[in-house]
Amino acid sequence: MLRRLVLVLVLMAPIGLRAESGLDAWLRYAPLEEPVARRYRDALPAVVVTLGTEAPVQSAKSELLRGIRGMLNRNLRAAARIPSEPAIVIGTLAQIRQAAPQLAAAGNIEGDGFWLRTVRSNGVRSIVIAGDTDRGVLYGTFALLRKIALGESINDLEQKEMPYSPIRWVNHWENLDGSIERGYGGRSIFWENGKAREDLSRVSDYGRLLASLGINGTSINNVNADARVLSSEFLPQIVRVADALRPWGVKVALSVDFGSPRTVGGLTTFDPLDPGVIAYWKNKADEIYRAVPDLGGFVLKADSEGRVGPSAVGRTHADAANVVARALKPHGGVFFYRGFVYDNRMDWRNPKNDRARAADDNFRNLDGKFDDNVFIQIKNGPIDYQVREPASPLFGTLEKTNQVIELQITQEYMGQGRHTVFLVPMWKEVLDFDMRARPGMTTPVKALVAGKVFGRPSGGMIGVSNVGLDESWFGNHMSQANLYGFGRLAWNPDLSSKQIIDEWTRLTFGDDPKVVETVTSMQLSSWRTYENYTGPLGLQTLTDITGNHYGLAVEASERNGWGQWHFADEKGVGMERSVARGTGFAGQYRPDVAKVYESVETTPDDLLLFFHHVPYTQKLRSGKTVIQYIYDSHYEGAETVAKYANDWRALKGRIDDRRFAEVLAQLQYQAGQAIVWRDGVATYFFKMSGIADAKNRIGNYPGRLEAESAALKDYAVRAVTPPEGASGEKAIDCPVARCEATFKYSGESGWRDVTVRYFDVNSGAAKYRVSVNGQLVAEWTATDRVPTRRIDSASSARHIIEGIQLRAGDEILIEGIPEGSETAGLDYIEIVPTP
Ligand code: GCU
Repeated sequence: MLRRLVLVLVLMAPIGLRAESGLDAWLRYAPLEEPVARRYRDALPAVVVTLGTEAPVQSAKSELLRGIRGMLNRNLRAAARIPSEPAIVIGTLAQIRQAAPQLAAAGNIEGDGFWLRTVRSNGVRSIVIAGDTDRGVLYGTFALLRKIALGESINDLEQKEMPYSPIRWVNHWENLDGSIERGYGGRSIFWENGKAREDLSRVSDYGRLLASLGINGTSINNVNADARVLSSEFLPQIVRVADALRPWGVKVALSVDFGSPRTVGGLTTFDPLDPGVIAYWKNKADEIYRAVPDLGGFVLKADSEGRVGPSAVGRTHADAANVVARALKPHGGVFFYRGFVYDNRMDWRNPKNDRARAADDNFRNLDGKFDDNVFIQIKNGPIDYQVREPASPLFGTLEKTNQVIELQITQEYMGQGRHTVFLVPMWKEVLDFDMRARPGMTTPVKALVAGKVFGRPSGGMIGVSNVGLDESWFGNHMSQANLYGFGRLAWNPDLSSKQIIDEWTRLTFGDDPKVVETVTSMQLSSWRTYENYTGPLGLQTLTDITGNHYGLAVEASERNGWGQWHFADEKGVGMERSVARGTGFAGQYRPDVAKVYESVETTPDDLLLFFHHVPYTQKLRSGKTVIQYIYDSHYEGAETVAKYANDWRALKGRIDDRRFAEVLAQLQYQAGQAIVWRDGVATYFFKMSGIADAKNRIGNYPGRLEAESAALKDYAVRAVTPPEGASGEKAIDCPVARCEATFKYSGESGWRDVTVRYFDVNSGAAKYRVSVNGQLVAEWTATDRVPTRRIDSASSARHIIEGIQLRAGDEILIEGIPEGSETAGLDYIEIVPTP
């Protein structure tokens, strides 16, 4: 009987639960359930005909074979000529018109678009995948496979799609030694020890992911560019990477250093008007294009964060941009000139100073002075990828200059792959924001950057991706949704966040309704949740902005030259950016928008503190005060992440064990970090404002016992900096080989969960052992990957020991055993009834 039950259970288990690494991301082609698979098998011809031999078209064919094999367990036959039986025909419209006019419809396809059609001719039914370009053919193939994976009908296909804009690129901030600036998924897939990696298979895997979204270009080195990238000796390395991406229709671009004519070109200047410099850029471009004829172009970060630029030689950004652009022009190359130009040594005492103004101030007067293959690459907000910013005013300012929007896929200020934050809702808010840039017209950012409002020849979207060698690409499976979402939006910014995440979830984790519901609702709320505990009301991310951009450090942004001030003092908080009373930033928007941001009354709550300095008692539209909102949002945020972890736990058995366990661990970690942020930010503002929380939660933590109040043997008490990084502002750490902290339980008897809040820095692997009345109940080693060597909020970690029976008087002993320079730090324990 039992055996039969087991057999029945095994047969009932959902298919496709093999351990998955995440490497195939949303292109898993997991087997479809049999009845569905059968339906598709009936609808699909058995033969695939590929017209044309170009690499992207060949990729399309092999992808089709791979996808159909995976999902339907069927091997298509490949042919080069149209047979008399039903076939899937893939090729450009021109090729189809020539080889099989009966299959080609009248009409055309624009840009990298595609056309999927079911054609009946002489009683034979064919599926035609056509593009105007090779890329279009590839994109159409991915679209067909996606339809099948999502269970959509392919019976009577008539689907034509055109990308919203021509530029759909990613950028990579990868250094030639293989490290990645702001990368959280491991080392570079491109570089190793100053060269292209020996094995570039991950690059081609990546090209495949990009192509599936319609992304058609990528820069392959850091915007903080190493000048060596332009040296003749390095060229073969670029050739290798370009070769790996070409079959996927992805063009390669290089980040260049404006000082190159002098640093590697042997000239005495990099003045863009100097004839020698003009010749340098021209010769360089000619040389590179000889080796990589389809190179996309260059990207430049100039006059920003220590990078040299035209200001050093008294020239304008337009002078700088045009000299390089003219060198690229004959080869069809484009030049992305980053709008991220600002002074990071600004005097914070001058109330007129404002980093947010920088982009618009720098480029406004140059509108119309840039060549037509130059694009100003503008970050979504005026500061730097903070958790909430208004759209950059520059989008609405430029009329006679091409622009692209730069979004950050890698989660630099958004939890660095350790927190689940789905960025599409945030991006959509910016893309859909009406800049009121032309009277009588709706002018959302998406239309402006695509060049549609002022009739520019081109435009689009760029995402800073920074994937790495980790099998999950980003260090977190959930973060893959951001690359997916970026690509889908770049193709079609009118897609809704809901639709994008629904697709992604089903492609990535399967279509079990409970999985889909749990993952989509978690992802859709995750940005707001993260904002709730890291920087609400337009405060920006209250993180360590001069350090790792990860941990909590409310004052790190104050009183320094970086200009990310929020000016919190005893009376109020926020930066005054109005024209009447502040820096005038609000006035950089077109009048209809400027009017809204100018006054406290009309500024949306979410951006209130970005635009205005107000008293803590200022009422929001909801009727809540600013200070109470800060408290409440932090508690709400932390509660929501705890719920994410619980909801995910309920998916056990519905997702393969490996990804289930990895995401669960990530969410539990995030839930722990959200508590650190909650406590730290709330305490900080309570101390600063002196205004109590209406719900009396601050400093009142049921069941919490501070480590500094335990009986300590050899452990030393130390202050933590910044103080809000530890509960009670203190921690203990162990200066010798082994230390002990003993806590006495004084509550009621019963089953309890004990949370140990400890510090896991990245410079060692300390051990912890916990015993109750002499009996060992838990032990672990602190080996997590976090971006700090210090005892602070970023290294704060927790270990939960579930279900221990405790009685009053029980002794809980924690032994800490340091290793390397990790000192087995402890913050507190918290004892709560087991749920
Ligand atoms: C951010 C980031 C830097 C990066 C810069 C840029 O400030 O922290 O690492 O170089 O953006 O976009 O250029």
